[in-house]
Amino acid sequence: MAQCSFYSALSSQLPRIPIPNLSLYSSLKSDSQIPDLSKRAAVIRPAIETPITAAAADGTKVFVVSDLHTDYPENMSWVKSLPRRTHDNDVLVVAGDVAETSANFVQTMSFLKDKFRHVFFVPGNHDLWLRREETPFLDSVDKLEKLLDECRKIGVITKPTIVGGLGIIPLYSWYHESFDAEKDITEFRIPSLEMACKDFHVCRWPDGLQNRDNSLALYFDSLNDENWETVEDILTRCSHIISFSHFVPRQELCPEKRMLYYPNLPKIIGSNYLETRIRAIHGAEGGPSACHVFGHTHFCWDAIIDGIRYVQAPLAYPRERRRRMNGGENWLPFCIYYGNFEGRLSPCYWSDYYSVNPRTPDNTQLAPWVARFYTKKELDS
Ligand SMILES: [Fe+2]
Repeated sequence: MAQCSFYSALSSQLPRIPIPNLSLYSSLKSDSQIPDLSKRAAVIRPAIETPITAAAADGTKVFVVSDLHTDYPENMSWVKSLPRRTHDNDVLVVAGDVAETSANFVQTMSFLKDKFRHVFFVPGNHDLWLRREETPFLDSVDKLEKLLDECRKIGVITKPTIVGGLGIIPLYSWYHESFDAEKDITEFRIPSLEMACKDFHVCRWPDGLQNRDNSLALYFDSLNDENWETVEDILTRCSHIISFSHFVPRQELCPEKRMLYYPNLPKIIGSNYLETRIRAIHGAEGGPSACHVFGHTHFCWDAIIDGIRYVQAPLAYPRERRRRMNGGENWLPFCIYYGNFEGRLSPCYWSDYYSVNPRTPDNTQLAPWVARFYTKKELDS
């Protein structure tokens, strides 16, 4: 996630909705000013039924996780504590934001490669930060290339590959502001992207690439071109495919702006180019075996939109886990495939919320917890 103090306050005061597995959310508290939706009919989540294919033969399990942020010692400890031997035959898909420093990145990926048979990785924004690097990288593109070299040395896969009949496709991406197609919040003074988004200060780009236009999103998207022949080969050979990215492919995979402590968040999270790639892989209509994994916003998510299943399973920051956002760390890494796709969608706060509540992007009235936050901020200033 583009680190910002506004996100961190997303704590206990969220609207109540029916959530199947309450153990993950037991510390969410109600807010008397927020409508209690818990008396609505239970959430009916569609089951995903897919035929078992060759991938089932060797019992391959695929686990996913994003946003490991192992610069936090608690997060590095979580990685170290993953069991050995349990995953000797398994795949781990890491959807970016492993660590801010290359030293922590290498250590984390080495630990993971020690525990899983195959580890896949695609870079996130934090992986390309330069502010605490001892290694003298020229810029963030130089760091990206060196991290991919390190992955090759460790045996971490960064290119489309078939494992046990299952196609796994990393997609490179970066966000662009025009991804945000929903109405802006104007009720309060919302801090600028420059103030809120550390990427603007701690990434450095070569000439021609900059924040605030589409150049970075186009550059990262073009990195997928060199893998596209392999992708097309996978499309002819695999009936089950998992694609994954760090950034968000559709705005519906983030809560509406009025729900967010930083309502401009959608301007720094996603890429339309990504969704075009995903549809080229899984088809415009999607299908029961189409799955895309993403990260970055630290909101866990499991939903089917236009025929494709979209999953986010972030470890996120220790303070977010302490608030039991996303159910803590005990459900991670999240198994989405065991010879077949996990048949049912998992309970996730916001994707459950939007499974019973339509988006209303024209509604710019701030949610009560956000309005209180900005009112207090303006009174204090
Ligand atoms: Fe991120």
